Amino acid sequence: MHISARAQKMEPSATLAVTAKAKSLKREGKPVISFGAGEPDFDSPPSAIRYAEEAMKKGQTHYTPGTGIPELREEVCRYYKEHFGLEYTPGNVVVGSGAKPLIYEALGCLIDSGDEVLVFTPAWVSYVEQIRLFDGVPVLVDTSGTDFVPRIADVRKAVTPRTRAMIINTPNNPTGAVYDEECLRDLGRLAVEKNIVIIYDEIYERLVYGDAVHHQILNLVPEARDLTVIVNGVSKAFAMTGWRIGYALGPSSLMGYLGDMQGHITSNASSIAQWASVGALREAETDVVTMQKAFSGRRDLAVKLMKEMPYVSFTEPRGAFYVWFSIREALGKSWKGQPIRSDEEFCKVLLEAKYLAVVPGSAFMCPDNVRISYASSEEEIREGLGRLKEFLEELK
Ligand SMILES: Cc1ncc(COP(=O)(O)O)c(C=O)c1O
Repeated sequence: MHISARAQKMEPSATLAVTAKAKSLKREGKPVISFGAGEPDFDSPPSAIRYAEEAMKKGQTHYTPGTGIPELREEVCRYYKEHFGLEYTPGNVVVGSGAKPLIYEALGCLIDSGDEVLVFTPAWVSYVEQIRLFDGVPVLVDTSGTDFVPRIADVRKAVTPRTRAMIINTPNNPTGAVYDEECLRDLGRLAVEKNIVIIYDEIYERLVYGDAVHHQILNLVPEARDLTVIVNGVSKAFAMTGWRIGYALGPSSLMGYLGDMQGHITSNASSIAQWASVGALREAETDVVTMQKAFSGRRDLAVKLMKEMPYVSFTEPRGAFYVWFSIREALGKSWKGQPIRSDEEFCKVLLEAKYLAVVPGSAFMCPDNVRISYASSEEEIREGLGRLKEFLEELK
């Protein structure tokens, strides 16, 4: 069978691979702790469950409009008005099966073969692969030297006449960085100046801690509105990863194409999950606040424990639910005779030695680093980070 060059070039999702390996070890009865997946451990809000049950009982189990039920698109508009003061109408909104396919569809509507998209690294695993699936060229701008917030001079240097879009992800996966006002203003103005579309992935917008503030870029650069696609969803803040509901908001010219493309790929997202999301957006605000507080406590705990470890260094995360740390000082050492020459080896040996699953930085285009997710109970965080510390102390 002929397999396309496109498919062969694709790297499988490293986070899904780590999670799968951890689950298979668990099935074998091993005491695995997984800090791999970016997935809240909380139950989905009761209002989501209730709305889903009612939808099933009422027979809301058929195709819906491809871009989502009007009730959900209206709730999304209400949410954006209430939380950010932005006026959108349901015609500006496409509901999809998670934020992930919406980013893919947006890229599909924006880039032709050879077109370039700016990606700030370390970056979420799927951006680069999705750009490549449309034969686009990801242009990587490294943010490691500036606490993971892009420096405008570096971004400007990376722009060419083929630059069609930039993907901004704040709060950031994997670094936990929250982009400041100045950075967002500069990026927004650059986009307007060069006619570059902004894909604004703010899926972690509710998860910021301490004095960190999440900014909506359109409140800082309103003139970028016709060039901006906002991507958000219920997965992270509402602990609804399995329901697979995301939403995109943007200019109706682009959203029309995006909806048409989705119509040929998935059709509508699950009707039941859409109703669950209506329930979440209408009635789960207090659940979101409670979970945010819990994540804040977990972040403090994870940071405190990680500060006690040898060979690792990190910038304190201010949002999302990850700690991103350098293991450069651990490279070249070995654990009970097994060499640790790369971040991938580090993660593999750690999983086999201590049954702790973490994700190698290479997956985010930045080797020599590791990402842990602290979307786990405090007990698991203590136990898992205890194992990580033990592992590091045993390196020779
Ligand atoms: C930065 C970022 N964007 C988008 C997504 C996708 O979210 P969803 O589960 O809604 O597809 C994730 C999930 O891990 C993410 O971390």
